[in-house]
Amino acid sequence: MKLSSRLSAIDSFICAPYDVIWDCCCDHGLLGMALLKRAAAKQINFVDIVPTLMDELEHTLTRFSDQQAACQWQVLCQDVATIELQPSAKQLIIIAGVGGELLLRLVQKMVANCPEKLREQLSFIVCPVHHTYTLRQGLQALGLGLIKEQLVQENNRFYEVVQLSFTSNTALSVTGNQLWDNAEQMHELYLQQLVAHYTRMLNRDRTYFQHVLDDYQKISLD
Ligand SMILES: C[S@@+](CC[C@H](N)C(=O)[O-])C[C@H]1O[C@@H](n2cnc3c(N)ncnc32)[C@H](O)[C@@H]1O
Repeated sequence: MKLSSRLSAIDSFICAPYDVIWDCCCDHGLLGMALLKRAAAKQINFVDIVPTLMDELEHTLTRFSDQQAACQWQVLCQDVATIELQPSAKQLIIIAGVGGELLLRLVQKMVANCPEKLREQLSFIVCPVHHTYTLRQGLQALGLGLIKEQLVQENNRFYEVVQLSFTSNTALSVTGNQLWDNAEQMHELYLQQLVAHYTRMLNRDRTYFQHVLDDYQKISLD
């Protein structure tokens, strides 16, 4: 099945070879299946918390998997927060399609469960639904640096795709220093949406949201 533009953008970020790729909160597992097809890692792990989805995915993968396939796969029905990362493996963790606050909690838990010396082997690709500012603040606080970021539009919604690692020397910014392209009209539209949203949010908590609004208003797409 053809990947959506959001999942295709994530797929296009994955060039380096990995030992393990985790398709977390995978739902239908479409992204992981595309990665499996092109053998993007020695092992692809699919994780979601809903048993019926995971049963169905396991069935599909078993039906279509080739015994001689270049890469292994595993379907895990569990809370992503409880994942224990395997030692001595270069691992990519993908979390997409969940809210930014939940996504941050999941990354925090995975990092906390992971021995310090293993962290330099990890990289992440995150693509939240909303709350990217809070997510970026939290990822910064964990010490993650930026590898690559891109804005994607799908079904009249905007998504930020961000790739990170503990070994990157590029600071992750809260509003996305490398995200913006002033030649793209959709970037202007997304920025307008963010400014309108955080202007409305001033009624809820002026001290916090004024700060967020100021940061977005500093972005110039002229
Ligand atoms: C909208 S789907 C995203 C599917 C896919 N990643 C994408 O971006 O298209 C969100 C999935 O996250 C799963 N999910 C939410 N919280 C989770 C958690 N704590 N652990 C594992 N899966 C979770 C849900 O069961 C659901 O299938």
